[in-house]
Amino acid sequence: MESDIQTVLVNEAQIKTRVEELGNDISEKYREEELVLIWVQHGALLFTADLIRNISIPLRLDCIRVSSYKGTTTPVTDPQILQSLNLDIEGHSVLLVDDILDTGKTLQRVVKELEKNRPKSIETCVLLDKQTERPIVRPCDYVGFEIADQFVVGYGLDFAERYRHLPYIGVLKPELQNPPEWV
Ligand code: IMP
Ligand code: MG
Repeated sequence: MESDIQTVLVNEAQIKTRVEELGNDISEKYREEELVLIWVQHGALLFTADLIRNISIPLRLDCIRVSSYKGTTTPVTDPQILQSLNLDIEGHSVLLVDDILDTGKTLQRVVKELEKNRPKSIETCVLLDKQTERPIVRPCDYVGFEIADQFVVGYGLDFAERYRHLPYIGVLKPELQNPPEWV
């Protein structure tokens, strides 16, 4: 497993410190309210689990499922909503949490979906912001780390559903990024 990783980009201690800071910022921002935190499956799983333990205000949790890269390192089609919300978010403050901002299409698509339910507000939070040349529609409100434009795995992020359980974020060796039997 370790031998599949070329470089560790963000280690466990760095993740812990930054997630604590984000939790504090979010708790401060919404201190008078109850927040609805919506996380995007499955990539934001570990990030959300740690983030919510650092949020000290009342919170309701829901998740949304969006189509993924399906075993490649680049998006095949525009993201589709595979499973929507259970909670009624009308009139509530919503924080949307995802693992990584790449083209920005996933978050843009989910924000559009959430807006249909007329929440009071929507803010976005990502653990990683890939520095790409995307035509940015709307910047994220909370960002854990800015990283270079390369394919990363670990701490929830996968390649073909593998590596999500690594406790750090690392770059997958290029020769492992497109083995035909995984696609
Ligand atoms: P976007 O729609 O291009 O912004 O891509 C966002 C989604 O693609 C994320 O929720 C991830 O699931 C996935 N993704 C983008 N970049 C990476 C990466 O480097 N590693 C693993 N998953 C990624
Ligand atoms: Mg993914």
